Amino acid sequence: MDDRVKSCCAGFYELPVVALLLGDELHPGGAALTRKLAAATLVGRDTRVLDVACGRGESARVLATHFACRVVGIDYSEKNVGLANELTEDAGLSDRVHFVQGDAEQLPFDAGSFDVVICECSLCIFPQLSTALGEFQRVLRAGGRAGISDVVLNEEVPESLQDLLGRALCISGALSVDGYRNALGAAGFLAIRTRDVSGVLSDMIARIERRVSTVKHFLSEEQLGLPDGFSVPRSRIAEARDFVASGGVGYALITAKKSRTD
Ligand SMILES: C[S@@+](CC[C@H](N)C(=O)[O-])C[C@H]1O[C@@H](n2cnc3c(N)ncnc32)[C@H](O)[C@@H]1O
Repeated sequence: MDDRVKSCCAGFYELPVVALLLGDELHPGGAALTRKLAAATLVGRDTRVLDVACGRGESARVLATHFACRVVGIDYSEKNVGLANELTEDAGLSDRVHFVQGDAEQLPFDAGSFDVVICECSLCIFPQLSTALGEFQRVLRAGGRAGISDVVLNEEVPESLQDLLGRALCISGALSVDGYRNALGAAGFLAIRTRDVSGVLSDMIARIERRVSTVKHFLSEEQLGLPDGFSVPRSRIAEARDFVASGGVGYALITAKKSRTD
């Protein structure tokens, strides 16, 4: 079942229609929020950063460009990893940034390989979140930092959003702020800080809705090509928008540290 969730979520972010609707920004807040996350985790020149669930690698390229750090990205989607490497070569950043296919719950890296692990809008997608956080701990060096941005649940998710699309949209698997704090604490992280940045969520949904209303003039729902289990997007996006507007869901930046002693 877990493998099905992972493949479905990764497959969702490979869809041309998702690229059409989201563009480069696969997480709320886009590059501006990625830079804030990097500043909050003290990324600088030559910092070794791991971007878990990196999508097509936009954040990794933004970080390498703005902070001169080195970034490895990992994503479950073979297709998006291939695209990420191509886009990075086109951008002339291959000496600092590269991508590998893999699973957040089984990171193919040695213990202590990274100074910073970031994970944007993806932690809530992983079926075994505690396993993934244990992996973040393992691959961080002593005293290393984790930077997470993710959907925060303030209320129970409506039944209509508790399906695979809800999970792929990072809603159905999301936790409360205390839920994230407890999960990070249980994985051994210290100095856990959270910052509410919920405004970025409504901005992203408004942008998607604008794009949907343009796209619908050119493509029928069948032509959008959504696979089984994802149903029609327009009404579902409106449901997600209402849930955000009612305050049922928000977005947060979360930072934490690994202990200085192993
Ligand atoms: C919402 S997108 C976020 C992408 C990227 N972090 C960003 O913000 O641009 C979620 C990503 O999680 C990836 N993903 C889902 N399950 C995963 C897993 N178990 N391990 C690694 N990546 C996974 C998907 O393939 C997708 O690229």
